[in-house]
Amino acid sequence: MVSPAPAQSRLKKPILRAVSGETLDPPPVWMMRQAGRYLPEYRAIRATANGFMDFCYTPALAAEATMQPIRRFGFDAAILFSDILVVPDAFGQPVSFEAGEGPRLDPIETPDGLARLASSIDLGRLQPVFETIKAVRPHLPEETAFLGFCGAPWTVASYMIAGRGTPDQAPARAFAYRWPDAFQSLIDRLVEGSILYLRAQLDAGVDAVQIFDSWAGVLPGRAFRRWCAEPMQRIAEGVKASHPDARIIAFPRAANAHLGWMSRVKAFDALGLDTSADLEAVARDVQPNICVQGNLDPLVLIEGGSALDQAVDDIRRWLGRGPHIFNLGHGITPLTPIAHVERMLERVRRPIYV
Ligand code: CP3
Repeated sequence: MVSPAPAQSRLKKPILRAVSGETLDPPPVWMMRQAGRYLPEYRAIRATANGFMDFCYTPALAAEATMQPIRRFGFDAAILFSDILVVPDAFGQPVSFEAGEGPRLDPIETPDGLARLASSIDLGRLQPVFETIKAVRPHLPEETAFLGFCGAPWTVASYMIAGRGTPDQAPARAFAYRWPDAFQSLIDRLVEGSILYLRAQLDAGVDAVQIFDSWAGVLPGRAFRRWCAEPMQRIAEGVKASHPDARIIAFPRAANAHLGWMSRVKAFDALGLDTSADLEAVARDVQPNICVQGNLDPLVLIEGGSALDQAVDDIRRWLGRGPHIFNLGHGITPLTPIAHVERMLERVRRPIYV
């Protein structure tokens, strides 16, 4: 077990200062999916692996992919290169990626299908992920935070049930209406597994973790509480029970109506904002309670020019007076020109309030 970073070195990392409630000008910055197909150096190493899961499970390649955006852009955080779908894989539901088609799993169509899953997560299967963390750690600049992550139970379960990406998560929503007890048992298993998985990432050397609930936005209010917010909160509380200094960023995508009360959940240290967040309301109702992260539209990053400059300035104007980590509202897409990322960074890193 690697001992946690001493307080002194944590204080040098702007991301950890922001999630601890400090207002920084300029704000620290990283991008969701910052290692990926928009980078030629990523495409080059990606081509050397068989499938995407093999790529994730090869520590030398995953560590290199983690470092690439840090070398090129000097982001304030490196995010572990992996995928949220290694968790179903470690529960005994194999995952593969077909070129250009996204993830494929053997779908869980009825409660009987849950019997095919292991009762607890196999951390042995995830050993290459922890090896990746250990390989990256010594190469990171002192001021760069290292982020681990997992998918939130609802989002992961939606892929396990449908067996693939769907536009509206209808199969998982229908399953939860038809068999709420069975669905609850799946969510509970994922909560327990995610706690163990995140603790192991922290032990291997990440500084903080993000929980991605990419599909939180498709659930009605009560269902959002039961299937998204409470499981995420249980994960955060479970991680902090053993790792009280861990910092946790929750990203309930497209769940703006819930940000106010989620900002008062003590176990969360930051909330991710998607592109649709109303920044005026966030600055008024959310940011006084918690650090926020986001929320540049990945499309304006493709577009570039003055539209990009204005979008960056707008976010900084609204969120710059409280704890804020500059990021996108969702992952960067393969078509994004590198010059636009450079332009964004140059603009984010200009102090505006001094
Ligand atoms: O942010 C990072 O740079 C770290 C790595 C990371 C990846 N996926 C790499 C990846 C992270 C944090 C994720 C999270 C993830 N994976 C989410 C939650 C965030 C979100 O984007 O909503 C979800 C829903 C997944 C599941 C997933 N992985 C899908 C649906 C796909 C296919 C879509 C696509 O973009 O092709 C992936 C594949 C994937 N994960 C790629 C990368 C770089 C592209 C695959 C490739 O390089 O061949």
